[in-house]
Amino acid sequence: MAAYWIDFFSLLARWTHVVVGIAWIGASFYFVWLDNHLDAPSDDALKAKGVGGELWAVHGGGFYNPQKYGPAGPRRVPDTLHWFYWEAYSTWLTGFLLLCLVYYRSPEVSLLDPTRLAPGGFGGVAVGLGFLVGGWLIYHALCRSPLARSERALGLSIAGLLGLAAWALCQTFSGRGAFLHFGAMLGTMMVANVFFVIIPGQRKMVAAIRAGQLPDPIHGKHGKQRSVHNTYFTLPVLFTMISNHYATTYGGPSNWIALILLCVGGAAIRHWFVLRHRARERDGKTSPVALIIGLAAIVATAAMLQPMTAASTAAAPVTAERAQAILAARCTTCHAAQPRFAGLAAAPNGAMFDTPERAHAKRSLIAAQLQSGAMPPGNLTAMTPDERAELLRWASTP
Ligand code: HEC
Repeated sequence: MAAYWIDFFSLLARWTHVVVGIAWIGASFYFVWLDNHLDAPSDDALKAKGVGGELWAVHGGGFYNPQKYGPAGPRRVPDTLHWFYWEAYSTWLTGFLLLCLVYYRSPEVSLLDPTRLAPGGFGGVAVGLGFLVGGWLIYHALCRSPLARSERALGLSIAGLLGLAAWALCQTFSGRGAFLHFGAMLGTMMVANVFFVIIPGQRKMVAAIRAGQLPDPIHGKHGKQRSVHNTYFTLPVLFTMISNHYATTYGGPSNWIALILLCVGGAAIRHWFVLRHRARERDGKTSPVALIIGLAAIVATAAMLQPMTAASTAAAPVTAERAQAILAARCTTCHAAQPRFAGLAAAPNGAMFDTPERAHAKRSLIAAQLQSGAMPPGNLTAMTPDERAELLRWASTP
């Protein structure tokens, strides 16, 4: 019964997480777009007010004319000033809740793999939390180090460290747990950027203006730096958040390369969009290099992950009875109408193999999970390599 309520609660958490995540990333995409499309104001009155850029847009049957003030900010701010931070905070809070409900509640199923380095049980959970906190502390220290004088040097160091983290996570956790923690670590950095840097800086700017002083432009500069990083983290985070549906990406032995390549792909494609926003500065032309790099990274991942050709034809076909026996021994503790595995309220993803008909219907899904090694999770049911090969042959027979 408890498992049922936790399952339902996790549905509500996930639903909310997606909704507030859309609100956050949607606003973030919009403001990046806005910032990059601003034109110098033509109206002298606007210039005199300190407006540095404006644009015109039509949406939902109305005309909009947003204006952005220069680094010195406006001379006064009205009482009603809209802030954007609850979208970010609530995305992190609901995400962390989900992390606890899905990954930390039963770490053996989703997070750990006995062939990887993380200790079992709560020790493994502590290592996971260590990556989230440690990732932010190291990233934050880098941004405040002398390295940050060059945006390029800082960007390359962050990329290098993230690559290292991707590799380390994949050595530490199951593929699924590693990918999710990589995304959670990036997401934590993004939200911490908002909480510890961007919003406090903005508060100081507003306070200065309200006190009739000029705001210190350093706050704007720091905020902008973090918000640029957040822009490039967005697509990689979104990939990792959906990656748990794609065992082929996280399941194999070179999963860390796939993780790095797909994140490079996402960041490069995001960069191409940012460049495109400013195309009018280059007579409407945007270099395709970033897009080509992004697509090449994705194509390279697809080629790398492609399953090797099916099992040898010389091997004898596997009967349905034999396949059912293996499924019963290694899979149906979880994949049955009434799972016996502690903490499971229903068959995971509705995948049930407790009758030959049900198993038959799911053969292609079973093949993908066996091929990548993602199932059984952490090989909890001690499936042997021979059984895997046999079941795979049965599942891949047309
Ligand atoms: C300890 C419980 C457990 C065992 C044992 C187990 N699985 Fe799973 N399986 C899961 C969980 C949890 C998920 C859902 C993962 C997710 O959230 O995407 C899953 C998902 C699946 C899916 C659905 C994938 C999809 O895209 O919908 C398939 C297919 C699958 N497992 C096959 C197997 C096979 C084959 C075995 C036996 C060799 C097996 N599983 C053993 C827990 C288990």
